[in-house]
Amino acid sequence: MSIDFGTDIYEEPIVAKTFLQEDAQEGSLRPKTLREYIGQEKAKGNLAVFIEAAKRRGESLDHVLLHGPPGLGKTTLAGIIAQEMGVNIRITSGPAIEKAGDLAALLTNLNENDILFVDEIHRLNRAVEEILYPAMEDYAIDIIIGKGPSANSIRLDLPHFTLIGATTRSGQLSAPLRDRFGVTLRLELYTPEELCEIVTRSAGILNVEIEPEGAMEIAKRSRGTPRIANRMLRRVRDFAEVRANGVITRPVADEALRALEIDRLGLDPIDRRMLRAVIENYGGGPVGLETLAATIGEEAVTLEDVYEPYLMQLGFLTRTPRGRCVTKKAYDHLGIAVQGALAGENGQLSF
Ligand code: ADE
Repeated sequence: MSIDFGTDIYEEPIVAKTFLQEDAQEGSLRPKTLREYIGQEKAKGNLAVFIEAAKRRGESLDHVLLHGPPGLGKTTLAGIIAQEMGVNIRITSGPAIEKAGDLAALLTNLNENDILFVDEIHRLNRAVEEILYPAMEDYAIDIIIGKGPSANSIRLDLPHFTLIGATTRSGQLSAPLRDRFGVTLRLELYTPEELCEIVTRSAGILNVEIEPEGAMEIAKRSRGTPRIANRMLRRVRDFAEVRANGVITRPVADEALRALEIDRLGLDPIDRRMLRAVIENYGGGPVGLETLAATIGEEAVTLEDVYEPYLMQLGFLTRTPRGRCVTKKAYDHLGIAVQGALAGENGQLSF
């Protein structure tokens, strides 16, 4: 089995939605089997059955769509599926496949039952997507040879393969593409207990001594996301080595995360700026996403994909048809008094 990780590398903060340089080392932290993979019990349980059934029949696994917020382990899970199926995986992304020919080249180079993993599949262009339909359905592609009246279409058979698509925005997939996936799995934010297990496992692999309270402190502040938890673990390790005796205790984790401006619940400066902007500029909301993004100088997609899921899980932010609203819980967390509002049952404010 071979895994070909083609990752993009950017300079970004600890909550970044993309891969960072240090995440390139994430490879060593990635679990390789379903048994090692912590959390996502529903998705894991279903996958185990589908993998076992496909293996017993000697067939390729049905096409799988993985969706959910960034950093929850979609690429990791695709690698595990390949490992469990005993096949090769080729990793690419929607924006990297520019032309229909790029996709044709990828598909014709696969072996029987191999996996093609397409990250950010919602960003495939239309011409490429249309090649994918017969490829997924009939394991064939139609190639046009020549131009004008003498143009001819020939059908090229492909090996039986599995497409694993990953997306943070399944609503942006076209219906014909979405319908061609036999299995759709939604990944959820992790609980602090699951993240604590992940941090403890990662610390073991990185050879860092960590106390259970230290692991839990990192877990509680990593906004439900293993990628963030593992990134925090590395930063906290630096503090432990320089300011303490190398052991990650709760006070060391707290000091490190405080220095990185990550608060008790894992909010970073952008989360807080976002909540404050809704409160101070729009009276607690509602405010449209684009307006809010322009107010704080961030991109709307980043707020929607990276920041909102966790703020909504905390019950700090709600989405209404008229825009985003901040709840009383968020006012309390920021230590801002609610003025002239009544808090409803779900903490939503009405004036
Ligand atoms: N590292 C990142 N995600 C993980 C997970 N779900 N289980 C174990 N280790 C991980």
